[in-house]
Amino acid sequence: MTDAPTLDRAPATTAKGQPARLVSFDGAEMRSRFPNEPFRLGHALSSHPLFTITRLAELARTLPRDQVEMTEAAVKVETRFEDVKIIDAPADEVVRRIESGHAWMVLKRVERDPAYAALLREMLDDVARGAGFADCDEAGFYDLQGFIFVTSPRAVTPFHYDPEENMFVQIRGRKAFHQYDNRDRSILSDEELEISPSKHRNLTFDPAFDTRKTSFYLEGGEGCFVPHLWPHWVETFDDLSISMAFTWKSPAADRLNTLLQANGLLRHLGLPQASPGQRPMLDTAKVAGYRAMRAVIAPLRRSEGMRRALRGLLFGRKANYYYGKDGEAA
Ligand SMILES: [Fe+2]
Repeated sequence: MTDAPTLDRAPATTAKGQPARLVSFDGAEMRSRFPNEPFRLGHALSSHPLFTITRLAELARTLPRDQVEMTEAAVKVETRFEDVKIIDAPADEVVRRIESGHAWMVLKRVERDPAYAALLREMLDDVARGAGFADCDEAGFYDLQGFIFVTSPRAVTPFHYDPEENMFVQIRGRKAFHQYDNRDRSILSDEELEISPSKHRNLTFDPAFDTRKTSFYLEGGEGCFVPHLWPHWVETFDDLSISMAFTWKSPAADRLNTLLQANGLLRHLGLPQASPGQRPMLDTAKVAGYRAMRAVIAPLRRSEGMRRALRGLLFGRKANYYYGKDGEAA
């Protein structure tokens, strides 16, 4: 476990002098780093009523089962998902017992609840203003999604990346957030970069990567920007942790995600592909083809049962890993 050093507070200003409401940045740092590199931020959500244990338990109870992932907390950055036990219990009970337990849970797509949807939009409009735009629409932020992490003391989220751009905020407790440069192919290989439901998001970690990490030690009221597909791992300390990822897509991120999904599916079918950018015309054709396939199956994916069946059909039973052993119902 890494010792947490003294924390530096983020300046309470946004770029271009607009008033900060929910989030604040060092304006010069944001302008130089956004959206390609991480930076620190401050926020005003630590005592927000949507983040009490009672309200989060209610949220957990109402989300679809495949939008809640719960495991016993890992303790090492290198931990493989196969070695972590899935928790089989009502999600609201796990939230209520989080402080005395040893659990890691993520509540996905919390914008299904209108109150969290409104907060997500308000927060990311504020981020857009910080970047010098009027709002999310003008900034080109779309597909806004929220993920809330509720974690027991002394837990580790192993090494992984996420296919979104992410303003990550620490609501309660302390957390260390370690990020690694996505542009460094010695850290993340082409195959690991591909997106596929058939593999868990955890990546292979090598302690040698640590000479190139950027670490943010966060407590309530602080956070950091996580660029698209930047690998990271996270650790909590001696108290329970509540955090939220405010995420969005940009056109460039969405196109790269689609290409990485197409390449992941083709590799799963025994047809490994060239790296993104090596064959631009083929990349364009794969993106168009994958989007067309996705449009055809989109109506089917509205039901949890069909989402589960499609994942299993295309990617095998392991793609439904979060239901329990081998994708069987937990
Ligand atoms: Fe993450």
